[in-house]
Amino acid sequence: MQSKSLFLPLPSLFSLIALITLLACKSSPKNKSLYPITKSAIADSAMVVSAHPLATAIGIKILRNGGNAVDAAIAVQFALAVCYPGAGNIGGGGFMVYRNNSGEIFSLDYREKASASATADMYLDSLGNVQEDLSKFGHLAAGVPGTVDGMVKAYEKFSKLKDWKNLLQPAIDLAKNGFQITAREAENLNEEQDNFKKYNLNTTAFHKEKWAEGDMLIQNDLAKTLEAIRDHGRAGFYEGIVADQIVTEMKSGKGIVSIEDLKNYHAQWRTPITTMYRGHKIISMPPPSSGGIALAQLLEMVEPYDVASLKFQSAASVHLMVEAERRVYADRSQFLGDADFYAVPQKTLLDSGYIAQRMADFNPRLANKSTDVSHGEIGSEETTHYSIIDQYGNAVSMTTTLNGGYGAFTVVGGAGFILNNEMDDFSVKPGTSNMYGLVGGTANKIEANKRMLSSMTPTIVEKDGKLKMVVGTPGGSTIITSVFQAIINVLDFGMDADQAVQAPRFHHQWLPDVIQCEVDAIDAKERKILESIGHTFKDRGPIGRVEAIVINKNGQLHGAADRRGDDDTKGF
Ligand code: GLY
Repeated sequence: MQSKSLFLPLPSLFSLIALITLLACKSSPKNKSLYPITKSAIADSAMVVSAHPLATAIGIKILRNGGNAVDAAIAVQFALAVCYPGAGNIGGGGFMVYRNNSGEIFSLDYREKASASATADMYLDSLGNVQEDLSKFGHLAAGVPGTVDGMVKAYEKFSKLKDWKNLLQPAIDLAKNGFQITAREAENLNEEQDNFKKYNLNTTAFHKEKWAEGDMLIQNDLAKTLEAIRDHGRAGFYEGIVADQIVTEMKSGKGIVSIEDLKNYHAQWRTPITTMYRGHKIISMPPPSSGGIALAQLLEMVEPYDVASLKFQSAASVHLMVEAERRVYADRSQFLGDADFYAVPQKTLLDSGYIAQRMADFNPRLANKSTDVSHGEIGSEETTHYSIIDQYGNAVSMTTTLNGGYGAFTVVGGAGFILNNEMDDFSVKPGTSNMYGLVGGTANKIEANKRMLSSMTPTIVEKDGKLKMVVGTPGGSTIITSVFQAIINVLDFGMDADQAVQAPRFHHQWLPDVIQCEVDAIDAKERKILESIGHTFKDRGPIGRVEAIVINKNGQLHGAADRRGDDDTKGF
C-alpha cells in the first residue's frame, strides 16, 4: 500500500542515539551490591526478562534444567509473588499469550472475576454517588483471584518438566528464608505503611517502622500457602485452609468473596487476537483484555502512513500516534468488556473499512478535540510483565497484576498474600473514571461472576512464520500505548530491543484530552509544533516497564529489561 504523507514541518530530530546511550544504563548502581542487574543481554538459546533479578534467575534455572517457557513462566509467577509483592501475586490475576515452536498460538485468561454477590451499584451511596475508596482499597475492592488456577491450567496443558513441586519450591524457599529488598522496594513499602496499617487488622510481613535497602523480607505465612499449592495444586488454594482463610479475612472487612466463588473460579483458554502489521503477525490478548483489540486498531490506523520516515518522536509521528490513540480509547470505553457477558463487536472493531472510517477525519495539521471524537458508529498503575523464550523456540508473554501497587493492601490473615483491588477496573458507575482516569461504559459495568476489563497486552510478533518479538508491560491504561510504541520502535524505527525499551514514552487515552509525557520524552521544538496545532501536554513520571525479547538479524535473542525499575534480563 502506498503510504499517506504528513505535511507537518520536521525540524531536526534530537539525537536519538545520544539519548538512548544516556538512558540505557546497563546496570543500576544502587542495586549493584545486592543483585547483578542486566538491562540488555544477547544469547543464542533462551532468555528471561522480568521485574526482579531473583525471579529472572529462577526462570533461567528452570530452563537450564530442561523446562520449557511455560514451566519457567509458572516458576517466575510464583517467585514474583514473593520477591515483587507490589504486583507479583497469587491474590490477583493475569493473561498469558503462548506461541509454541510450531507456530501454534494460545491465550490463557486467569483474570479475576466479580463475586457472585457483586452488583452494579455496590460502590454507590444512597444518592448514587461513587464511594471511591471502596473499589480501590481493602476487602471489597478484591475480585476472586485467578492466578493459581491459571498456573495449574498452563501446567496441565504445556509443562515439559511435569514437576509441579519443583516449579513452586524456589518461591517457597524465597518466602521462608527471606531475601534482601532493593532500594526501590524499600521506598515503595515505606510510602505505603499507612495503607498497610489501615487495611489490615493484623500486623503483616510488610509492616515495619522504616524499610531500607538490603533489609530481609521473610514471609512465613506466604510460604505455608505456597506449600499448600505445591502439595494440593488448585485445591490447595481454592479449597481447604487457604480458602477458609480468604473467606475469614473477607468477613472481617465487609468483603464478599465466598467459598463458592473460590470453588467456581476457572481460568479460560481463549482465542488470541491476531492482526498483520507491515508483514508481521501480531498476536495478543482478547477480551476481557482491551489490549489485543486496541493494539490491533492502533497499528492498523497508522499502517497507511510511512511512520519510519516521520522519525522517532517527531511532531508528525507523535501527532499521528496520538490521534489514533484518541480514537481507539474512545472505542475502548464504549465497546469493550468481558465478552462472556457483553457482545463485544470484535469483528467490526478490527475491520479495515471501520478503521479507515475512524481515521477519515484525521487532520495532519490539526489536533482533534476529544469532545469532538466519540466512539465509532457500528451496527501504579502497578502490574508486572515478563517475557520468556526457551531453548526449544517456545515463547511466553505474560502480564500479571494486583491492579494498584500492593493491590487492596489487605493481606489475607495467616495466608500472607496481598489481595487484588481489581474491582476498580470495572466501570464502577458508567461514565465515571477509574484510578487510571479511564472512562468506562455499560459494556464494563459490574455484574455477578463477570471479569473486569483489562488493558494488559501481552504480545508476540512473528515474521514469515518465525518468532520475532515477545513484549509487554505494566502501567494501567498506558499498557496498550507502551506496547504499541515498543513495536513501532522496532518495526518502523529500526531500533534494537534495548533502544526500543529504554526510549522515552508518551500516552493519550482520549479522556483526559492531554498527551501524558515522560520528562524530556519529546524535544521542546517538536512539542511547540504539537502545541501550535492544538495538543496539550501533561508531564509525568515513568510510563510502563517494558520487558522485551527481539530476535536480532543474527538470529540471536536480545533481551531488554526496562531501566525504569529493578528489571533484569538473563539468557544462555
Ligand atoms: N489492572 C490493570 C489492568 O488490568 O489493566
